[in-house]
Amino acid sequence: MNLKTFSSDDVTNKTVIVRVDYNVPLKKRGKSWVVVETQRIQDSLPLIEELRKNKARIVLMSHLGRPKGEINLDFSLEPVANYLKKQCRLPVTFSSKTIGEDVKKSVDGLKDGEILLLENLRFHSEEKKNDAAFAKQLAGLADIYINEAFSACHRAHASIEAITKYLPSFAGLHLQKEVEHLSKLMTEPVQPFVMVIGGAKISDKVEAVGNLHKIANVVLLGGGVANNFLKAEGIETHKSYLEEADKDSKKSYLDLAGKLVTENRTEKILKDGYIPLPKLMTPIDVVAAPNKDSKKTQVINLSSGMEDTPDDKDLMYLDIGPRTTKLYADLLEQARTIFWNGPLGVFEKSQFAHGTHAVARAIANSGAESFIGGGDTIAAINQFGLAGRFSYVSSAGGAALEFLAGKKMPGLEVIKK
Ligand code: 3PG
Ligand code: MG
Repeated sequence: MNLKTFSSDDVTNKTVIVRVDYNVPLKKRGKSWVVVETQRIQDSLPLIEELRKNKARIVLMSHLGRPKGEINLDFSLEPVANYLKKQCRLPVTFSSKTIGEDVKKSVDGLKDGEILLLENLRFHSEEKKNDAAFAKQLAGLADIYINEAFSACHRAHASIEAITKYLPSFAGLHLQKEVEHLSKLMTEPVQPFVMVIGGAKISDKVEAVGNLHKIANVVLLGGGVANNFLKAEGIETHKSYLEEADKDSKKSYLDLAGKLVTENRTEKILKDGYIPLPKLMTPIDVVAAPNKDSKKTQVINLSSGMEDTPDDKDLMYLDIGPRTTKLYADLLEQARTIFWNGPLGVFEKSQFAHGTHAVARAIANSGAESFIGGGDTIAAINQFGLAGRFSYVSSAGGAALEFLAGKKMPGLEVIKK
C-alpha cells in the first residue's frame, strides 16, 4: 500500500494537527484517573519527536472510549496529557475544549515544538458522523494533517476521513510501520497459519472472521465473540454476553456467524494431512459463573454428545475450558505463523484468566512468527509477564482485523498516494 508520506519541508515551522489513538485504559486512583497501559502513547512519540525537531507546533487529537457524543469526564483525555507531561517530559498543554474560539487562541499561543492536546473528540456527536463542518473546524487549527492513528483507521470519522478534504494529509510514522507489518502477514504467511480471535467487541470481530478464515488455516475462537458463534451453532449460551444485531442497520451478527459456521463445516487439514479440522473452531468447553465477580465457577462441556446441562440457567461463559485450552495450545504449537487478537476470557479476574494465559504462553513458546494486537491483548501479555516474547505487537485491534480481512479502511483510503 502506497501511502502519502511527509518530508521535513512539509512540517518545518508549520502547525500540524495529528490524529493519534490515545484510546487507552484508565484507572481511578483516589479522585483522579491515570493511564494504565501506554503502548499507544509510546507509539506516537517518534512522530512527536520528529515534528519537534522540525520546529512544528503540534495539535494532538484523539478519542477515548465510547462516550455518547456528549461530555463525560470519565472519558477525559486530561490523564493522557498528564502522562505526556510527567512521564514523557513533553511541553504539553491540555485543552478542555475540542473546538471553538478558546482552542484557536491556545493554538495561536503555541511556540515552536510545543504541544496542545485537545479534549476527547467523541464528546461531540459530529465526530462519529464524519461531519464536514466539525472536520473543517479541526482543520482550521493547522496547516497540515497527519494520521498517526492506524488503530482507528477503520472508522469513517471526522478526524480521520472528513478532515483530509481540508488540509494536505499524510501518513504518520507508526501508521506506516503497522501497515508494513500487517501487509507482510498477508502476503504468503508461512503455513500452518493459525489465528486466535477473542475479545468483546463482537460485531467488529464476527465480520472480520468472515474474511480472515480465507488467509488462515484455522481460526480459534474464544471470549465474547465465541458466544455468538456458539449460539449460531445452536449451542445454549445462557446469560453470556452476545451481540445479536445492530440496532440501526438491523444487521444480525447471529445470522452472520451462523452463515460462517455452515460454510465452514467442511473439514480442513492443518498440517500434512494429519489433523482434519473445521476451519473455525469454537470452544468445546467453557468456564462459567453467574457473573464475572463470582468465585463460584464451573466447567461446562459443550461438545456434542457430552453436553452438560447445568441446573443454574443464569450462567455466563467467562473463559474457555481446560479441554479447549489444551486443544488450542496443541494447535498453536504446530503453527509457523500466528495472529492473535482479543483475550479468550475475563483475564482481569484470576478465576477466568487461565485460558488467555495458557494461549499467550503457547504462542510465546511456539517458535512461530507471532503477531499480536489489540489493547486488551497487550494488557493481558503485560499481566502475564510475557511482553517481549512476540515477533510484533500491534496496538491496533479492530483495525488490524479489518486490514487483514482485506477491507477498504476509510482512514487509509484518504492518505493513499
Ligand atoms: C480501538 O481501541 O480499537 C480504537 O481506538 C477504536 O475504538 P472504537 O472501537 O471505540 O472505535
Ligand atoms: Mg478496537
